[in-house]
Amino acid sequence: MVSAFMVTFSTKCNLIIICTIPGLITMATQYKTITVTPLGHFVGAEVSGVDIAEGLSEQQFLEVRQAFVTHGVIFIRNQNITPDQHISFSERWGEISVNRFFQAVESHPVIAEVRKEAHQTSNIGSSWHTDHSYDQLPAMGSILYARTVPKLGGDTLFSSMYAAYEHLSDGMKNTLHRMRAEHSSRHAFSEAAYVGVGDVEGRLSNAAEATQDAVHPVIIKHPLSGKPALYVNGEFTVKFEGWSKEESQPLLDYLYSHAYKKEFTCRFKWTQGSVAIWDNRATQHCALNDYDGEQRLMHRITISGECLEPSSSELKCG
Ligand code: SIN
Repeated sequence: MVSAFMVTFSTKCNLIIICTIPGLITMATQYKTITVTPLGHFVGAEVSGVDIAEGLSEQQFLEVRQAFVTHGVIFIRNQNITPDQHISFSERWGEISVNRFFQAVESHPVIAEVRKEAHQTSNIGSSWHTDHSYDQLPAMGSILYARTVPKLGGDTLFSSMYAAYEHLSDGMKNTLHRMRAEHSSRHAFSEAAYVGVGDVEGRLSNAAEATQDAVHPVIIKHPLSGKPALYVNGEFTVKFEGWSKEESQPLLDYLYSHAYKKEFTCRFKWTQGSVAIWDNRATQHCALNDYDGEQRLMHRITISGECLEPSSSELKCG
């Protein structure tokens, strides 16, 4: 179980959440304008009572944000939003961080397309990752809107990096607290990664711009909750700082097999018009590719983040 972080009481109409974060404030939140239904034990909740096209009141937005902080990823179904409404809603969360590699929506270049056509076989985002960890200031969150979904399949899995951290042994935690890891866009978005490999060419581009590298603590202090979270991912982490790749890989492999344990995950079954808002520092995700012969089209906006502080005072940010 994840320490004494969260106690949840469910009443017929409201969800009352009491969060006790060691070293931080004690918050008690009662949702008055939305309904929040947890989807997994450690991560994910469905939120209802919100119409993004109509706009959220200040109170509603605060409650939605609280649900996001508490659950790591939230899902809002049955939305009907234009690209402009997607952008305005995203701007309430922070500045938009434009993705440099995904094909953009032609009329709205800040929106990235996550697209797979019926004749294509490869999908985007099929291995576990967190968005933009190759950036020095990695993305805070992402807001994904489902425009076309297959009749069956194309679900997305999310895993809690708080749960992953909590369930490591004290010995492993102590070791990782002193470590940093290198992340890169080079191997993921350079020509070698996808030209002639599968069929994502055309959906991914700007290979020459895949030059971002960044170093982040392996255990971060989450900027919103203050809790420790594991911050290495299978897609973009290259190695531990000061270690060779050969030395790093066995420990990284262990951490991935641990972090993506089913117990720490939830699975979201999309319907057209669903919106997911996830925290890239508290969760990782992967998109299942089990719907050949059907189209799936999602619009994604990524929200800028900040330098990630280590959870241990022995390390510095960056
Ligand atoms: C992504 O990795 O950002 C896309 C996830 C999805 O398509 O479900």
